[in-house]
Formats: sequence, C-alpha cells, structure tokens
Amino acid sequence: MTAQPNALEIEDLVLHYGPVRAVDGVSLTIGPGRVTALVGESGSGKSTVGRCVVRLVKPTAGVVRIAGTDVTHLSRRQLRPHRSAVSIVFQDPAASLDPRMLVGEVVAEPLRLSGRMPRREREARVASELERVGLRAEVARRYPHELSGGQRQRVSIARALISEPRLLIADEPTSALDVSVQASVLNLLADLQRDIGFACLFITHDLSAVEYLADDIAVMYLGQLVEKGSRERIFARPAHPYTQALLAAAPVADPVRQRQRQPVLLGDDLPSALDPPSGCRFRTRCPLAFDRCASEVPAQVAVGDGMAACHLVQPDGTRPDVRAADTSEVLP
Ligand SMILES: Nc1ncnc2c1ncn2[C@@H]1O[C@H](COP(=O)(O)OP(=O)(O)O)[C@@H](O)[C@H]1O
Ligand SMILES: [Mg+2]
Repeated sequence: MTAQPNALEIEDLVLHYGPVRAVDGVSLTIGPGRVTALVGESGSGKSTVGRCVVRLVKPTAGVVRIAGTDVTHLSRRQLRPHRSAVSIVFQDPAASLDPRMLVGEVVAEPLRLSGRMPRREREARVASELERVGLRAEVARRYPHELSGGQRQRVSIARALISEPRLLIADEPTSALDVSVQASVLNLLADLQRDIGFACLFITHDLSAVEYLADDIAVMYLGQLVEKGSRERIFARPAHPYTQALLAAAPVADPVRQRQRQPVLLGDDLPSALDPPSGCRFRTRCPLAFDRCASEVPAQVAVGDGMAACHLVQPDGTRPDVRAADTSEVLP
C-alpha cells in the first residue's frame, strides 16, 4: 500500500498584483484529510493564497502541488483532469452562485463539466448531495435568490463537494451570513469533513471560529506566515506576538474569563502591502519591537511541529509575552 500524497503543498508562494505584494513567500503543507486554518486580518493575503491554489490567479513565483501533482504551470486545458481534486467555497454565496441557474444545475455543473455521467444518475447525485448538506431535494428546482443566505451557502457546499475533492478551500464561508446561522453552517462543514475526510484549507479572520475545526493553524500577516503549529499548541502557547494579540482579541465563551482578559491593542491598521515595513513586517504594531526588528528579517524558529518568525522566539523555548509589554521597559 502506498501512502496518500499530501492534499496540498505550497512552497514559497508569491503573488504580486502589480506593485501590491499580496503574498510574499508562503509555505504550507496539508496532509490527507487534515484541516489547516489560515488566519489573519482582512488584507493579509489569505484569499489570494486560496485563489492561487485553485488557480483563479497564476502565482508570480513558487510551487503549488495538489494531491502530489505540481499544478503551478499547467495551462487551463492541462488543469482540467485535476479540477475535481480541489474545490472552493467563497465568502458570499449571493455573489458566487449564478442567479440564472436553477439550484439543481448549479450543484450538477461540476459533474456536467467533467462529462460522462448520464443525466439520470447526475440528478440522483444532486438530490443526495443536497440532502447531505441539510436541504430538501426539491430545492433543486428553485433559484438561488429564493433561498436564505444560509441555504445558499449550503448549496455552494453541495456544489463544491459533489466532485468528491481531496481538498476543499473554504474562504470565510460564514462571514457573510447572519450571525444566527453562522454556527450551523460551521457545524455542517465540520461534520461533513469528519464523515467524508477531505482535507481543508479553512480561511478566516476569526481565530475563535476554528477552535473546534482545525488540526493546524497558520497565521498570516501582510503577505507572510508569522506562525504555524497545531491547534492545541497555538491556543495554549502562542509564540508570536501577533498570534498572542489575535488570541487576546478573540471572544471567549466563558463570561468570567472574558472579563478577566486584558486585550492587547494593536493600534493602527494593517500597513500597506505596497510598501511593507523593513525587517519584521509586524514591528510597526508590535508592543515588543526593538531596533533589530527594523533592520533584520526574523528567521523561522522551530516551535513544536511548527514555527514562529520573531527575533524574541529562541530555539531554547524562550518566547515573548505581549501582555507584559505595557511599560516603557527596554527589551534586549
Ligand atoms: N485583484 C486585485 N488587484 C490588486 N490588489 C488586490 C487584488 N486582490 C487583492 N488585492 C490586495 O492584496 C492584498 C491581499 O488581499 P486578500 O488576499 O484579499 O486578503 P484577505 O483575504 O486576507 O483579506 C490586499 O492589500 C488587497 O488590497
Ligand atoms: Mg479574503
């Protein structure tokens, strides 16, 4: 028996939109059936990573491998046989579903494009796929605009999964939905992932959304990864000051713990991807920054199975603590 290849391997991915350095050297591996959350503020480049993986844009540099196949330089035609290996669910189902197509046609389209399945069989597959995402099969004869936002996102999920992909890219799949239905769609995705076992790159700006879903977490800041690690390690012992700040800002369910928390203020907005800060890109907002952070790009230091890119993280396990940084104390 041969081992299954990794669902996704990204090496040194770069994507520049003209002068905008949206993604600037991202490396990431997702094993078969594993879930990695890609987390970071709006504008950090998360969607661009997802768009490179499904080849909605062609990377400026770097390598993307899906289920062991290098797809970086394949033409549209060469990509076709690999299309069914990866699917994407977008943030806004109202914008991503063709309003002129019936729900049944929307969900069947990936099967129709890959050819060969008789119409009858296709219709049966669509019905069972709709039921699998918690919709009635009759929904196939409706138009997307006749459904609620949550139902529409379920349709997008059915469409993404009907080709049985090895890898699902979920780009903020609940952010555009009513708060009241976000949890049910998140739970649906988690249940489907567990039952079917596809690998998933789950993109979100909300770290608390992935506490029960992700195996691993990758934290992105201004086009680069600043930390990677297992979910357990990241939540229990975040190493990078940015990850610590994100965790301090995420809501906590327990009201007592919520009141005791000290938020870490990041101050200004994300700097421009047109002209990122020298050295460590996070330094302009880091409460612990010192002179070396401006002059030297931090190396990736191994932390557990993952890494953190910060001058204050040491191979011996020394880590910074942003919550202790509210004084004028000068750091080494
Ligand atoms: N089509 C585009 N043309 C030019 N700049 C873009 C385009 N799409 C995204 N950007 C820029 O690239 C950066 C990363 O964007 P994006 O990948 O959407 O981040 P995120 O998904 O983390 O919010 C941002 O500075 C954004 O303004
Ligand atoms: Mg995005």
